[in-house]
Amino acid sequence: MRKIIGSIGGAALAGLTVLMVGMQVHAEPTRATMPDIAKLVHYTTVTRGEVTEHIMTTREAIEAVKRGDPIPNGTHVALVDYRDGEVFRYFIMEKGENWGQDYDENRRTADWQFQWFKPDGTINEAENTARCQSCHMSRADRDFLYTFNDMRRFEFE
Ligand code: HEC
Repeated sequence: MRKIIGSIGGAALAGLTVLMVGMQVHAEPTRATMPDIAKLVHYTTVTRGEVTEHIMTTREAIEAVKRGDPIPNGTHVALVDYRDGEVFRYFIMEKGENWGQDYDENRRTADWQFQWFKPDGTINEAENTARCQSCHMSRADRDFLYTFNDMRRFEFE
């Protein structure tokens, strides 16, 4: 290995280092996409100080949770974070068939992937979604959702 690095040469190695650092600080594209928020059902609100979070998902996902069935592939869960009455950011989870295979087992959150979208729909360049996964992992027994029970208790109008 040492011999190989030596033969690559200093400049190439420096370039490689820059690339690796770049990977750590830049946004990771994931499979999670921005949903059509207007089509989701707002099932609970969480407030923390200045922050108001509207949490929403599909009707089908709520019905599945109520029946005790797995949440279907294709489901989005959105946390719309409002500050001063304006959208500050969107935290999105989306589930797809075998999406968990993209990650090592120690990072995997079943088939859910995560993303942080800015109000303009672009992804946050500074976030690494491994952080989202590591926190949500503590909810493995509730399909990785903190508000699983709110979904279960939600009454459709
Ligand atoms: C430090 C722990 C932590 C981290 C990191 C974290 N979350 Fe969460 N997440 C929570 C908690 C706790 C809730 C429940 C709402 C609340 O209390 O604010 C939540 C709720 C959510 C919800 C609503 C569904 C649910 O689980 O109730 C989504 C969607 C979500 N987070 C996405 C993300 C995304 C995307 C990221 C990374 C950009 C992320 N989270 C990072 C703790 C975390």
